[in-house]
Amino acid sequence: MPTRLPDAAPSSFEIAVVPDAAALAEAAAREFARAAREAIAGRGIFRVVLAGGSTPRALYGRLARRPHRRSIPWDRVRFFWGDERCVPPDNERSNYRMARETLLEPLQIPAQRVLRMKGDQVPAAAARGYEWTIRKEFRGSPACFDLILLGLGEDGHTASLFPGTAALAESRRLVAANFVPKFGQWRITMTYRAVNAARRIVFLASGVEKAAPVEKIVKKRRGYRALPASGVAPRRGTLLWLLDEAAASKL
Ligand code: 6PG
Repeated sequence: MPTRLPDAAPSSFEIAVVPDAAALAEAAAREFARAAREAIAGRGIFRVVLAGGSTPRALYGRLARRPHRRSIPWDRVRFFWGDERCVPPDNERSNYRMARETLLEPLQIPAQRVLRMKGDQVPAAAARGYEWTIRKEFRGSPACFDLILLGLGEDGHTASLFPGTAALAESRRLVAANFVPKFGQWRITMTYRAVNAARRIVFLASGVEKAAPVEKIVKKRRGYRALPASGVAPRRGTLLWLLDEAAASKL
């Protein structure tokens, strides 16, 4: 079981530390299953926002296998993304492709329950389109995802909210097209407004290269606000930092 640590700011978030990447994937799968059962029992549906990058790959693989494959009512689950690279859905960099290969195809999730960000479209149009998709999903009520999974970059970015980029300042829209100078590429990303409205947010961080941003944000060290992940603060929901020992090694 994860070790629960007293967090830096009482009651603002919880921290759980597990031994390694494999344990992180299993702990994240249990978190996912718990959130899913709670949402489905309460509201008959589970709207989950998937994270991109490499860390969630092991989580998605576990969800697609026993016991989680059998313990979650997948026909009540609707899949969204927190961000996407502006590439076609079959591109090796696509966050959608990674989830499709590791989770959606193994579970045979039908297309109508998979709401992907269209990285193959012009960025501004893709962002407007996804904003519409979210507003339509919640039928005009404020968007409130049951679970949002987030990764953490070494520079403290999360989703595609990168340091010094325009989307950090977006306070009205739920989705933004965001040019990332460090890559010279466009991304589509949920904004803080969409993320912080969630019922439950779980950061997944694995590896010693994440220890510095984790420590700076969790302990609110000088300059922590320059790290975009520090802006993740659910308004009414809960936040869990799920870390392996390497990522938690500076706490
Ligand atoms: C992306 C992700 C990004 C990711 C972090 C961590 O599109 O790359 O949304 O925010 O979560 O960069 O990536 P790793 O899990 O690969 O370290």
